[in-house]
This record gives sequence, C-alpha cells and structure tokens, in this order.
Amino acid sequence: MARLRIGVLISGRGSNLQALLDTAADPAYPAQIVCAISNRADAAGLARAEAAGVARHVVAIADRRAFAEAADRILRAAGVELVALAGFMRLLDAGFVEAWRDRMLNIHPSLLPAFPGLHAQRQALAAGVKFAGCTVHFVRPAVDSGPIVAQAVVPVEDGDDEASLSARILAAEHRLYPWAIRLYAEGRLRIDGDRVFAAGAGAPLFAALNPAEPLASPGG
Ligand code: GRF
Repeated sequence: MARLRIGVLISGRGSNLQALLDTAADPAYPAQIVCAISNRADAAGLARAEAAGVARHVVAIADRRAFAEAADRILRAAGVELVALAGFMRLLDAGFVEAWRDRMLNIHPSLLPAFPGLHAQRQALAAGVKFAGCTVHFVRPAVDSGPIVAQAVVPVEDGDDEASLSARILAAEHRLYPWAIRLYAEGRLRIDGDRVFAAGAGAPLFAALNPAEPLASPGG
C-alpha cells in the first residue's frame, strides 16, 4: 500500500520532526515525510530533514497570506496528503487552514483545551494542575483549537520546574505524534463535530491518581 505523504511545518528545534523521521524510517510505517518547511532559516530542524534525505524549504516571508501561498505550492508540488505542524510558531492564514481542513494536524504541549498558546507548560505549573500532557488535534482557525485525535498524560511532580515538566511532556510528544499519524494514515479516524473516534483503538484501562495512593496492603 502507498504510504501517506506528509509535509511537516517547523520553526525551530524539530525534535518532533525527528521523532516522525525516525518512525517513518521503518518501511512498515504507513506514512512517509516528503518535505519539511520552516519559516526560519536558522531552524535546527532543517538539518534533521537534510540528514534524513528529506526535501527542506525555508519560506521566510513575513506576510501571512504570502507565506501560506508559498507553503501551499511546495506542499502540493510534493504531493503532500497530510500537513503536520511540529513546533510551527506562526499563525496560519485562514484560507490555508480551510484548504487543509481535516488534513492538517498540530501537536501542543498541554491537555487541550487547557493552556492553549505560548508557554503551555508554565501555564500548567502556575495553575497547579496535577497532570499535564500533550495533544494532537486537527487544526481549526483559532489557536490550538480543533477536534482532538489523541492525548498523552504525564504527572506533575512536586519538584518540577518548567524545564523538567517540558522534558517529560516532550518525551510523550515523541510517542504521541507518530501514533496519531499512524491512526490517520491507516484511515481509522472519524471526525464527528468536535470529537474524533479511532477505529480499533481503545482507551487505557486505568485511572491514575496524583498524589498517588499508597499501595493497598494484602487484606486491606
Ligand atoms: C513542542 O513542545 C510542541 O508541542 C510545541 O512546540 C514544541 C516544539 O518542539 N508546539 P520541537 O521543535 O518539535 O522540538
């Protein structure tokens, strides 16, 4: 079966791009990364694409509409079927979002709809939540909004600062994005309003408590 053609939009480090490249290096994975586009020439992620032999493009155009037109041309020329935003730090033109409706995913480092926007991990710490995490969602015009495909949850620990919590979430991101894209590529996702259902993939059979309960002693 032909592998789904993915175009990834980045602005910086590109560790999620790397996770996707690593996963897609397995020919059994149902998607392949065919191009990476950065709005910044100095994005470290560009070198990751190059190292993986993936076409990379810099579209350093400030005007939102002109950026969208240029990015759209590249994506269509590359035969892209799904756009993956991975640390892409610019607001997208509404026409572009509409053109790629239900064919564009984003990953965000919070359990949306909590803490959209910048510094999601800092927002989570400030709010005092006991669990944080990350979300993969279809992209809609409002920032970090759209039907949720998948989420990963991690605990907030008492000693956490923004860096330690971000690192814990990032490790989960690197598992979640390839998994969510696999579900898409296998045609298992159905969008119904704001909800997304994944055929053949159930929910985990646990409830996690934080602070954790003491282990039950034998006999109660
Ligand atoms: C990630 O935390 C992602 O969720 C957010 O921006 C960060 C990008 O990191 N949207 P990287 O560039 O993928 O390393």
